[in-house]
Amino acid sequence: MIPAMFIVIFLASFSCTNYNELDLYGVVDCDTTDITWESTIADILAENCVRCHGPAISYNGVRHDSYEAELIVVNDGRLRGVVNHLPGYPQMPFDGPKLPECELLQINTWLDNGAPEK
Ligand code: HEC
Repeated sequence: MIPAMFIVIFLASFSCTNYNELDLYGVVDCDTTDITWESTIADILAENCVRCHGPAISYNGVRHDSYEAELIVVNDGRLRGVVNHLPGYPQMPFDGPKLPECELLQINTWLDNGAPEK
């Protein structure tokens, strides 16, 4: 038998929840207009990826510190695979959680738009 007390607490935990757009969709404040390598993507990758994929170390020969190098993993699908944790790809960032929702959305938008440099 489940004590009534638990049921009350269970129901109460829903009634007070104030859903807003941010909770429901997670990405309301995310700017996905005019995403280019220069405006946005280079910064995201510099922050999260270049220490393992740059001039000092470049795991799997992958570099994220120039547009030319980036195009290799853009064109073969590996960038989309690793950041979205798609099956068959190692999950990046290698040593941390998935990128924040907005940054992922910006990368995916950029890829959908043909990965413009500027
Ligand atoms: C702490 C180091 C580290 C960080 C940070 C890191 N990577 Fe990696 N990356 C690795 C290692 C190690 C591998 C090789 C993994 C393997 O083959 O299993 C790799 C492999 C890759 C590959 C090649 C995958 C393949 O199938 O050949 C891509 C693309 C990649 N990383 C992209 C990224 C991106 C994008 C980020 C940032 C969001 C990132 N990495 C951050 C260490 C890192």
